[in-house]
Amino acid sequence: MTSSAHDVPRTTTNAGIPVESDEHSLSVGPDGPLLLQDHYLIEKMAQFNRERVPERVVHAKGSGAYGFFEVTNDVSQFTKADLFQPGRRTEMLARFSTVAGEQGSPDTWRDPRGFALKFYTEYGNYDLVGNNTPVFFVRDTIKFQDFIRSQKRRPDNGLRDNDMQWDFWTLSPESAHMVTWLMGDRGIPKTYRHMNGYGSHTYMWINGGGERFWIKYHIKTDQGIDFLTQEEADRLAGEDGDVHRRDLYQAIASGDAPSWTMYVQVMPFDDAPDYRFNPFDLTKVWPHGDYPLIEVGRMTLDRNPEDFFVHIEQAAFEPSNMVPGIGPSPDKMLLGRLFSYPDTHRYRIGPNYAQLPPNRPHSVVSSYAKDGPMRYEPSQAARPYAPNSYGGPAADTQNFGDPAGWHAAGEMVREAYKLRRDDDDFGQAGTQVRKVLDDAARERLVNNVVGHLSNGVSRPVLLRALQYWRNVDKALGDRIAARFNGS
Ligand code: NDP
Ligand code: HEM
Repeated sequence: MTSSAHDVPRTTTNAGIPVESDEHSLSVGPDGPLLLQDHYLIEKMAQFNRERVPERVVHAKGSGAYGFFEVTNDVSQFTKADLFQPGRRTEMLARFSTVAGEQGSPDTWRDPRGFALKFYTEYGNYDLVGNNTPVFFVRDTIKFQDFIRSQKRRPDNGLRDNDMQWDFWTLSPESAHMVTWLMGDRGIPKTYRHMNGYGSHTYMWINGGGERFWIKYHIKTDQGIDFLTQEEADRLAGEDGDVHRRDLYQAIASGDAPSWTMYVQVMPFDDAPDYRFNPFDLTKVWPHGDYPLIEVGRMTLDRNPEDFFVHIEQAAFEPSNMVPGIGPSPDKMLLGRLFSYPDTHRYRIGPNYAQLPPNRPHSVVSSYAKDGPMRYEPSQAARPYAPNSYGGPAADTQNFGDPAGWHAAGEMVREAYKLRRDDDDFGQAGTQVRKVLDDAARERLVNNVVGHLSNGVSRPVLLRALQYWRNVDKALGDRIAARFNGS
């Protein structure tokens, strides 16, 4: 209904009642006290006071868009997952983010980037919650919280602290491969459009015959990889802290829809026990020479959200959302994450977060969940318990009864993965430095590390860091040490 004075909708309260004024509260005379009966004023203040939900405990600053995923190659021999069958096109949502910064932090800080995807498949939501790196800093969930705290702010002064970061990294040598990524060119992508995504973990795929495979996802940018130098990033952090958010939004708004091509590496199920290093260790990649990339499909982001808060801030990605044909692996990080995300969503957004627009499946939901704060979708079950004789729902054990699993038996222990022939913390980081980077990239890596170590790092931690880089690559470590008078 439009206002009589203007050709615009008339203002109403949240209950739809026309309001008396946009400009003046109700007072006793023009100079008098305000009145409690001014319901609209009170509603405005109360609503404003509740505008925020807590920001994500990590990956707080991010941007996202909707799009679609199209299968371009037949991988049905490896998975029965509906969204990966030939000819399928699936609606999706993507959110990219930095990790350690808060909501208002600059997009160009050196940090891994989150690469979270939600596919609205016919069998429920599939969430692939990865990063722009194929590896991670630690390999056991029990160290994740410590790692994150070392990257965030100090309790005493509220400042981020390079000494804390290097202290943790050098005491956790399994971080070396990821820190080599972070300090190299890929530590600051030019835009979200110019970076790859990786599932990072090993996942299971199961085909229509029940055969199992171990797989890793690679989602390569069709815009080409590009990066910012430290100097460019520092300048942009001051000039436009939202530069990556702006870039993604503007590209899509102008019709320049970015796309990525998805590949998988496939390891036969029985290769895992005898592979030369633990194929579930999140600090390692599978060399392409051993397991080449197989194309799966292409994702295109072509639709900006109509409301950032509703669709991006309230988006809830969870690695535990896996659809038939896809399962977890014994990766001790992945298994921890399966618990963590839905738990944080219940706290951050509320227990009925799955009903919100970005999280609502596009398929039929017939779960036994009921009630709870802000629930607005009626329960689909005529009786709130299973089994019931009033029309279910009932699990389809015939078609979906086989869990994606593997054999496990043993004593309960607190032990690291058993070491194999090529299991070490520095090998693949060294390969990256020696074989993947060229001279110019190595030089930038040295400069980035020296710059970072020159900023508030204590002497004992610095000495450990120099040894850490010598362990990655002796020549590289010596070059870094030379910049600190050969320490
Ligand atoms: P390959 O030579 O087959 O692969 C090297 C890969 O490194 C490239 O395919 C590219 O992957 C990626 N790459 C290229 N430039 C850079 C850069 N500046 N920084 C980081 N990565 C870059 O060798 P391997 O498979 O044996 O791997 C060797 C090393 O390469 C690994 O130790 C790892 O550090 C790195 N790497 C390996 C990946 C893998 O899954 N095997 C993936 C990415 C990096 P992409 O197209 O994905 O960008
Ligand atoms: C976000 C926990 C490791 C990628 C989050 C959030 C938590 C969390 C609690 C906030 C979620 C939210 O509020 O919406 C953990 C734990 C980990 C872990 C416990 C290790 C055990 C990883 C790894 C990756 C990753 C290894 C990538 C491979 C992401 C991404 C987001 C995120 C992309 C942001 C999702 C979004 O855009 O909403 N993580 N994380 N995390 N995490 Fe992790």
